[in-house]
Amino acid sequence: MSSTDAIGKTASHVLPLLPYAENALDPVISANTLGVHYGKHHKGYVDNLNKLIAGTELAGLSLEQLVRETAGKADKVAIFNNAAQVWNHTFYWQSLRAKGGGEPPAALKQKIQSAFGNVDGCRKELAAAATTQFGSGWAWLVLESDKLKVVKTGNAETPLTQGARPLLTIDVWEHAYYLDYQNRRVDYVNAVLDKLINWGFAADNLG
Ligand SMILES: [Fe+2]
Repeated sequence: MSSTDAIGKTASHVLPLLPYAENALDPVISANTLGVHYGKHHKGYVDNLNKLIAGTELAGLSLEQLVRETAGKADKVAIFNNAAQVWNHTFYWQSLRAKGGGEPPAALKQKIQSAFGNVDGCRKELAAAATTQFGSGWAWLVLESDKLKVVKTGNAETPLTQGARPLLTIDVWEHAYYLDYQNRRVDYVNAVLDKLINWGFAADNLG
């Protein structure tokens, strides 16, 4: 995700390719929304991050190192926000797929049953976290001490810095749904959970 020049003092973080075409999630998420979200918002975070770290001691760090290194530091808020938003968005694209939803792979399903009773219980917790996050943020399925949990984070915050392993996420910033759903976040969240959520990606992240 990052590269260094011969001197090793500058780094350029790169906007990762989308794992599918911009119209692949239509009509749940339109090509219009995806184009702006990926091509303007996600790209904007990458560009801002590169400007902020150019020539600094942080320029050689990987994206994940940057997020961890700057978390909770008052003088590094802008760098944290942009680095975490780059990481969160790349993770979000992978958390979705065309014809998603349905039954999780067996290993994940077993963990879901032990934590939430059944898949619908997990789905309901994710929906509740995504719809009750006040303002901008994210809903996450995470693994913490070998147990699944649903958490929500505000703005750019990420479970990466909170001792949990992210398995999948739903972006609930307005830019993720406003063109398609206006203020109806609940409709966006339910459609994503029923039709796009990529349980296979979450299962792969169990490690
Ligand atoms: Fe977003």
